[in-house]
Amino acid sequence: MRRNGSLLVIDDEEIMREILEALLTREGYDVRLAASGAEGIDLAKSVPIDAAIVDVMMPGMDGIAVLDELKKHDDELPVLMITAFASVENAISAMKRGAFDYITKPFKNDEVLVVVRNALERRQLIAENTALRQNLQAQQQKFAGIIGRSPRMKQVFDLIIQAAPSRSTILITGESGTGKELVARAIHNNSARSDRAFVTVNSGNLPSDLLESTLFGHVKGAFTGAVYPKKGLCDLADKGSIFFDEIGNIPLETQAKLLRVMQEREFMRLGGMETIKVDVRIIAATNCDLKEMVDEGSFREDLYYRLHVINVYLPPLRERKDDIPVLVHHFLEKYSEENRKPGIELTADALDLLMDYDWPGNVRELENVIERAVVLTTGARIDADLIPENVRSSPTFQIPRFVVPPEGISFKDVITNVEKRLIESTLEAAGGVQKRAAELLRIKPTTLNEMIKRYEIGPRRKKNGIRPDEGGEQESKPSSTRPRSAFPATELTRD
Ligand SMILES: Nc1ncnc2c1ncn2[C@@H]1O[C@H](COP(=O)(O)OP(=O)(O)OP(=O)(O)O)[C@@H](O)[C@H]1O
Ligand SMILES: [Mg+2]
Repeated sequence: MRRNGSLLVIDDEEIMREILEALLTREGYDVRLAASGAEGIDLAKSVPIDAAIVDVMMPGMDGIAVLDELKKHDDELPVLMITAFASVENAISAMKRGAFDYITKPFKNDEVLVVVRNALERRQLIAENTALRQNLQAQQQKFAGIIGRSPRMKQVFDLIIQAAPSRSTILITGESGTGKELVARAIHNNSARSDRAFVTVNSGNLPSDLLESTLFGHVKGAFTGAVYPKKGLCDLADKGSIFFDEIGNIPLETQAKLLRVMQEREFMRLGGMETIKVDVRIIAATNCDLKEMVDEGSFREDLYYRLHVINVYLPPLRERKDDIPVLVHHFLEKYSEENRKPGIELTADALDLLMDYDWPGNVRELENVIERAVVLTTGARIDADLIPENVRSSPTFQIPRFVVPPEGISFKDVITNVEKRLIESTLEAAGGVQKRAAELLRIKPTTLNEMIKRYEIGPRRKKNGIRPDEGGEQESKPSSTRPRSAFPATELTRD
């Protein structure tokens, strides 16, 4: 029985074998004996052992040759050499060839036990390390290489694990470049469907009949040019998962058919009459506000609720900056390998720049910056000069310095005015698109819209309104009684 570990003793002298067997068995080790090198190697190949004790001086195959053979079979096996005091040289050359330690004859029992214990500890450590590494690799594969250690990403990982096994439809939301496609893959990989197909549909801007023929196939003669019947992606994804990248792009007519696949698990080919049964798990991603699209009438409400059963939201990178260093490390490894430039590192200054930046393009943008830097660098270190200009000098927001006039000023008026100007400047930065402006200000579009109405911010005003270079002068005069110096408009802009 294995208690403390199993040891293999290889010694041609019977008396030595007996002494070691008695000593080590008493300590609770499982001991195997071999009288020659060849016998020992056979044993090592047929039973699991944790460490070997090998006599250096043996007739036939000597201890050093045995050591070499044992290492060939199991590189991590700790091998202890026993040598006569007179031939320590041999022992040292054995150490150079990878022996773990050596014991000189005559030896004290304690001495042997200490060395054996060390060897087994080392063995244990290596085993744990290997298991850990394998575990990590498996984890990485399961999570489709999604890197992240922030609490927000941990929540995402938990949700993936919880949601993956069911057949429920999953909607993945988040800004562009946050990793929605990776999450879709991870959900598939962690589901019982993982050995079946994962099919991606790039809904793009395909007209609805082309999209439908791609999804559901068509019958012969369904349209001009449909000479042969054709199967669709839904057939391909049967028993697997189908991923709709940007579900918001799917035309209304096709949405109805998709709903049918979800609810009834069936579809019809384009131009066909026959219903076809299918078992697919639907995963969808979007960076649009589907609820808003429902309100506008461009997305079916019933489909929206069907999709919304489980929602995985990927926070933008700027809200989980503690992921930046691990992502940088990951991309450095990826691109230094790809470009055969091993061991490239980022300087602390360069990393600081990356930490300060807001990453509107999220992880995709970070990945591009690292790839570029790795390609361009001539040395092993990437310094701030290899970080693109726009990342280095990202516009920072400045709170204006208020000068309160001696007679005082109405707090409410100031706040109102600041709010108004902030909205105007943001609308301008967003090219007049309210939805984008709301995103920039991290408020709901409806809230923004209310404020625009309340402050009577009109499109004309937006056009002629505050410009960083104009200082907003024409504007502040008629509309206010406060001294202009209280809040110079220029400082409220992004530049
Ligand atoms: N957490 C992450 N770990 C490692 N790589 C990531 C991570 N998130 C995103 N990426 C990488 O960033 C790029 C963009 O990711 P992905 O295509 O999944 O984003 P997306 O949210 O689908 O964007 P879009 O809405 O533009 O389609 C990919 O190259 C992806 O490998
Ligand atoms: Mg995508």
